Formats: sequence, C-alpha cells, structure tokens
Amino acid sequence: MKVNGTPTRTIWLAEDGRTVEIIDQTRLPHHYEIAQLATLDDACRAIKDMLVRGAPLIGATAAHGLALAMREDASDAGLAAAYDRLFATRPTAVNLRWALDDLRGRLAPLPPEQRPGAALARAVAICDEDVALNAAIGEAGLGVFRALWEQKGKPERFNVLTHCNAGWLATVDWGTALAPIYKAHDAGIPVHVWVDETRPRNQGASLTAWELNQHGVPHTVIVDNAGGHLMQHGQVDVCIVGTDRTTATGDVCNKIGTYLKALAARDNEVPFYVALPSPTIDWTVRDGVAEIPIEDRGAGEVCRLWGRLESGETAWITVTPQGSPAANPAFDVTPARLVSGLVTERGVCAASAEGLAGLFPEQAAAA
Ligand code: MRU
Repeated sequence: MKVNGTPTRTIWLAEDGRTVEIIDQTRLPHHYEIAQLATLDDACRAIKDMLVRGAPLIGATAAHGLALAMREDASDAGLAAAYDRLFATRPTAVNLRWALDDLRGRLAPLPPEQRPGAALARAVAICDEDVALNAAIGEAGLGVFRALWEQKGKPERFNVLTHCNAGWLATVDWGTALAPIYKAHDAGIPVHVWVDETRPRNQGASLTAWELNQHGVPHTVIVDNAGGHLMQHGQVDVCIVGTDRTTATGDVCNKIGTYLKALAARDNEVPFYVALPSPTIDWTVRDGVAEIPIEDRGAGEVCRLWGRLESGETAWITVTPQGSPAANPAFDVTPARLVSGLVTERGVCAASAEGLAGLFPEQAAAA
C-alpha cells in the first residue's frame, strides 16, 4: 500500500542488504518513523514492545530476527537460543511459532556456515508469500462483500465494521480483514468502515484510521461500545476482523472485544466474517477458549493513554486514579458458532473442522 503516495511495506531489507527496516507503529498516527533492526535483540524488542504487531507481521519479523541471529551465532546452540528468545516475545499469535518452526526446520540440517544466507533468503520469501496470501484473501473477501452489497440492492453506503487493526500494518502488505475493504473500495463498491477504537492500545483509532485515510477509504472511528447500537439500527451490513490464532475447529482468537462484537452481530443477524492466512491456523488446538494462551499486557496500557496535545506535542496521560488496579487481557476467543465464515487465501469456508479441512486437506491430514 502507499504512504503519502509512496508504495511501502511494513518490513523490508535496507540498502546494505543486512539491516531490516520497519515502520515504528508505536509512533503512529502522529509520527511516521522508520526503525532499524540490526541484531536479534532489536528484533525481540520490536515484537515485545509492539513497534511491529499483528499476527502475520509478528511472524515475518521473527523470521528476520532469526536471520539476524544467524549472523551473530549460527551454531546449533545459537539457533536454539534465538528460537527460544523470539518465541518468548508474545504468546498469542501463532504466526510467531509458525515462522520460527519453518526456519528452524530448514536451517537445522544445514552446516552452520550456510545458515545465515539460507535464513535471510527464507525470511525474505516469507514476507513475499505473506503479501500474496493477503492479496488472495482480499479477492475472496471482495466476493463476499459484492454478494452482500448486491443482495441489499446496492445501497449508496455499504457499512463494514472492523475491530483492532488487521490492515496492511498488521501484515507485510494488504492486511487480512482490510484487504477485502481495499479491494471493494477500488472496485467501486461504496464501502464505509466503522472503526472500533480498540482500547487499551487504540489500534483501531491510531492505525486502522491512519491506513484508511492514506488510501482514501471513507470511515468513522467509534468507541468500542458503539457497535451493538449501530447494529440494532441497521447501520452495519457486515463485520470483518482478523485473528491471531484460529483453531482447527474454527474458534477465533483476536483482539479483546472481538467476542462481544460477534455476540451483538448474531443478535442482530449481521454477518460476522474473519479473514486469515493459513499460517494463522493452529492445527494442534481444538478448543480455543480452553487452550489458547491469552497475553496479559499489564495495567499500564489501561491506566495511560498516548496522544497529541493541543500544542502539537505528543505525550502520555494518566486516566485512572492512583491506587485503582487495572486488568489487561489482550485477546479473547469467539467460538466458531458465532462466525459466519472464514475468508482465507483459498476462498471462504465455514468456521468448523470440516470447513477448514475442506480448504486445507493436506494441512488437516498432517496435524
Ligand atoms: O496486539 P496486536 O496489535 O498485535 O493485535 C493484533 C490483532 O489482534 C489483529 O486483529 C490480528 O493480529 C489480526 S492481524 C492481521
């Protein structure tokens, strides 16, 4: 996608062919800054502190992190230690494990001197593959949106509600949930997006709104609790969100608050879709509520807000009284029964074991 008219990805190799560059997402929307990752430490910090975030981008950054680590120590011990450090950065998005397993599986049989080059080549390939997967998700989702828009008699405004940021900033390019929105907008469907602000970190208000602005997609930011009201009043035609981990049975783990949107959507007969590339499917898990580890990001993000002051400077402010404890579970699980369909790079399927196995028979059989 483009930033101020210039085609841009979220992660790329610098001109020296060694350093990795990323958009520092902790600074958006008020500052657009590029950060350099030159070491394994840099990559771990970027994921943990959320300079990069979103399941596919976490996986892509981990792949580059392992490649940076191979330049520092390509021994078996170095590979194992780098895997463990990257794996410990964030617990919920399964793309992290997927990318690390992919690289380790390819690197382990190689002699150490071949590992740095092989790791870098695979990290670059994972990034390119992510772009292709998301573009395909966009096409599949465009079909869903077009059918719903036509069923409704082609209204002048087709209202889509999304939660968190599952746009190109959450991936290498295109995004998952936002890819169909970009494709529909470009195809002339009059999309308007309700953007949940997504407290506590405001990925919707800060990142999704910024992306949609950059691409000229009409949108309105709403507080997290507004979605149910809008659905009751017929102002939401479809919901679409991303996911950090989807089980083999179609349960969807995504940013905290997704579950409540799915409940409201079901009560109001609004279709609720989830967009995901196949590396986000965890074929080893069947019960999302019981088995998926939910990140606890601590009280600080709930008690404090970052934003721009009237003076133009950016600053943190505290919104809670001193002494009030806060809790911050970062994700929740929406049971498969509340999901109208999964939009993948291979098309749309039911959120069920049968639906996923139908689209990905080889992966289901291997699990
Ligand atoms: O905590 P974050 O910002 O990494 O959470 C991101 C989300 O929950 C996204 O919706 C999810 O990763 C899907 S991204 C394509």
